[in-house]
Amino acid sequence: MKKALPIVIILLLQYFLPLNATTVNDLRVEYMKNPIGIDVNQPRFSWKPESDERGVFQTAYRIIVSADESFKKKVWDSGEVASDQSVAIVYGGAALSPTTRYFWKVQVKDQTSRTIVSTEKAFFETGLMNLGWSNAQWIKSSQRDTINTVPMFRTTCTLNKKIRSARIYASGLGIYEVYINGKRVGTTIEKGKTVYDEFKPGWTDYTRTVSYSTYDVKDLLIKGKNAIGAIVAPGWWQGGISHGKYGNPDLGFIAKLVVNYTDGTSEVVVTNSQTWKCSSDGAIRQGDIYNGEIYDARKEIAWTSPGFDDSNWQACGINTDFKGEIKAFVGPTVQVRTQLQRIPVKITRYEGVVKTDSDYGKINVKETYTQPAVISLPKGQTLVYDMGQNMTGWVKFKVKGAAGTEITMRFAEMLNDEGKKSRGDDGPGGSLYRINLRSAKAMLQYTLKGDAQGEEYHPSTTFFGFRYCDLTTTEDIEIESLTGEVVGTASEEVGSFSTDHPEVNQLFSNIIWGQRSNFLSIPTDCPQRDERLGWMGDIQIFGRTASYNADLDAFFRKWTGDVRDSQRDDGAYPDVAPHCWVGYGQAAWAEAGIIIPWTAYLMYADKDILIENYPAMEKYMAFLAAQADDKYKYNGAGTNYGDWVSYVKTDSRYISVCYYAYSALLMEKISLALSSSKNDLYAQKAAYNRILYNNIKREFQTRYIDAAGRLTQNTQTAYLLALKLDLFPTAITRQRAINNLQILIMTNGNKLNTGFVGTGTIMPTLSDVGLTDVAYDLLLQRENPSWLYSVDQGATTVWERWNSYTKENGFNPNIGMNSFNHYAYGAVAEWMYRYVAGINPDENNPGFKHILLNPSPDFRKSFPEGQTQIKHAEASYDSYYGTIKSAWKIEDNGDVRYDVTIPANTTATLTLLLPGKQSEIFESELSAENSKGVVSVTKKDDTAIIELASGSYSFRTSVRNPV
Ligand code: BGC
Repeated sequence: MKKALPIVIILLLQYFLPLNATTVNDLRVEYMKNPIGIDVNQPRFSWKPESDERGVFQTAYRIIVSADESFKKKVWDSGEVASDQSVAIVYGGAALSPTTRYFWKVQVKDQTSRTIVSTEKAFFETGLMNLGWSNAQWIKSSQRDTINTVPMFRTTCTLNKKIRSARIYASGLGIYEVYINGKRVGTTIEKGKTVYDEFKPGWTDYTRTVSYSTYDVKDLLIKGKNAIGAIVAPGWWQGGISHGKYGNPDLGFIAKLVVNYTDGTSEVVVTNSQTWKCSSDGAIRQGDIYNGEIYDARKEIAWTSPGFDDSNWQACGINTDFKGEIKAFVGPTVQVRTQLQRIPVKITRYEGVVKTDSDYGKINVKETYTQPAVISLPKGQTLVYDMGQNMTGWVKFKVKGAAGTEITMRFAEMLNDEGKKSRGDDGPGGSLYRINLRSAKAMLQYTLKGDAQGEEYHPSTTFFGFRYCDLTTTEDIEIESLTGEVVGTASEEVGSFSTDHPEVNQLFSNIIWGQRSNFLSIPTDCPQRDERLGWMGDIQIFGRTASYNADLDAFFRKWTGDVRDSQRDDGAYPDVAPHCWVGYGQAAWAEAGIIIPWTAYLMYADKDILIENYPAMEKYMAFLAAQADDKYKYNGAGTNYGDWVSYVKTDSRYISVCYYAYSALLMEKISLALSSSKNDLYAQKAAYNRILYNNIKREFQTRYIDAAGRLTQNTQTAYLLALKLDLFPTAITRQRAINNLQILIMTNGNKLNTGFVGTGTIMPTLSDVGLTDVAYDLLLQRENPSWLYSVDQGATTVWERWNSYTKENGFNPNIGMNSFNHYAYGAVAEWMYRYVAGINPDENNPGFKHILLNPSPDFRKSFPEGQTQIKHAEASYDSYYGTIKSAWKIEDNGDVRYDVTIPANTTATLTLLLPGKQSEIFESELSAENSKGVVSVTKKDDTAIIELASGSYSFRTSVRNPV
């Protein structure tokens, strides 16, 4: 009975509250919900006025910030500010104190002068700020770590008074995990629900920065003796993935526990070599990102409990390997994403190999299971698990067996199909295909302790890119359960897209999974082989798509910090950030340093990311300027990667020149965005970059356009870049280029042949030059190369190559570049959101405060063989102002329906392509002009431009008369 009460109250409230009341929700600080441990002097506040009504907007706001929950210790009252801004309002109160929780609320006035007060419990908590670490020291194992060992550190402390609050601030050189009194430290988000951050402190450029995190540990501490423990694994600091960047350093740990008692006194416990002890004889015997984990459950001991006898542990040493700064962690953390957990779709038990006419034969199958089952696995047999989805993470299993039994697991993205060398197989048909992992071992070894109730395990010091895994054992065991846990940066997913075309929907799902798999602390290229690096080119191409799929402001803010840290003194941005391998200053890779901040500004109206990165961008522009040679002034960056993995080569110097022009264009836009008056410094810089762009363009024309006005580079990618960047001298040469591009695609059988660079450019550019029909032809193409080709080959993520595997020929012989989880080609989703559904931010009023809705239905009149029309598409995007929706449906009679939603406190310009000049436009079956919220309708040729206030609308365009 008790539980029914809230429902009754809700029903009553619904009855008495005015219908469609505006509410103020989703309060955020620094674009995050209730962040803890931020070291920002002037945090920024955001909220969403929400309403089902049309034409709702904010006319004023008032923010109140207080150091207590009852708002008695106010530190800022903004007073009523007449403004429609509800994103990123800068704090203007008294200086914030470190390690303090502040509560805040906002009061909003809407267009009817109604006042709405936020009801969410909203807070933020400052980190250590300038307080320092109270002499906490980086501790290390007293013995030199042998390869991939995972030391444990521990101390005890006695807390004798009643605790009011307690926080631990911690960081690691290597990836660390903290325990207090036998319990793992995490963040309690609601009673009984704690989330844990994995792979802390995350990946940064450790030559300059390491992050620390803050946790509320009050509930883990007890009166009396307490124990604090930490493990540190190699992670990105010391393992193979560090590529020796930091020399041969030791693992390290630093922590500061601050306990405030109710009597006003406090206690501080810090890491040091006197009171902390260490041992490397724990259950995790080895842990390494590329190679996996070795775990011996017989070594599990209660080493983080207060009563543990550590008399045979050693004193810690002091780690002096880190010379950079410890900064507060920003952004979404890496977590096990429980809602994405995978139950195997198929389990195969086999023993040995059956000979066939192929080189390796095929596995000798004993049994297959398509439902979760308890499986008895005898020694000598192997289980192959299929998660049904290529993913990143690890497995969690529960087993029973004798102590000392060893389980070995291996991970792979694909299975060998026929066991034939000629098809690129590396083993018998049905076994794991692992040769594409290169030197990464990607394995788990688990030794049972022999618990009669069963024992549960998942690794924590490594991750795998896999769809399949196999399992063998040294003695008979029983496996009670085994699931796939998805591990990655837990950024909020904010986009959706679907059509009436199942394979296009599968492609979209593959793109989402590519992002889930490769956003792990930083944006990476792939999760499986011995790479997994922050390749700048890949994210520059995929970044726009990624920021429609997920809320990435804080993620990009943090990562662009890594990019800056890794910038070379001469201004060259690195090829991978954090830098640990390969070089610097390569065209279309380095430019991520400019493109990503600009993307974040467009999507999130985050000016700070531009301001923060501006000096580094200018340094990069200076680097580009220095690349002149005797012949040419505007060469652009390096030519190492060109149009990576394309079918047809485009001169990589040509690409670098185009990207120089692109950089100048973006620098002009960025400078204008930061300029606040006509002639301020930023305005002057904008003008400077316009001149630079014009100069590059002029030299480009002398280099690459012949006397007859033709582009000398005859590839799709070459035309696309020159068109996108407006590099042609006249409208006639431009139009000719558009025609040539179309011919190139047609004569290639309506197929693209672009690599990373061209594929990232092709679809939006085709639409921008009036070739949306061609873009649809490409989207629905099923032959090699095309997006749906890999879908037809069974892909569940986006591949590095269009043909990493084909049913016809097997695996691509270029084994080293045969990743089945590379997001770059997934950039096509940008076109799905921005052109098919037509959801765009307005550069002049970014962050979707004003929305440009330009849906482009599949209006093709003719179809390449085998293709049919897409008749329906819909997308949504949760901007910082609220959810934007755009859907269209082509009816059998030729009418087109457009359903759109524009969040409160925003406006939109909806551009509709009309079926003919005489067409009429209805909204909710009324003439659109007369509809509430429709500000104006302007028809021009075959388009209608409709200005809209907020709200949901249902438009119909028709060539017939109104009903
Ligand atoms: C990576 C790519 C990367 C490229 C640059 C590859 O090994 O996997 O995604 O951009 O190298 O050349």
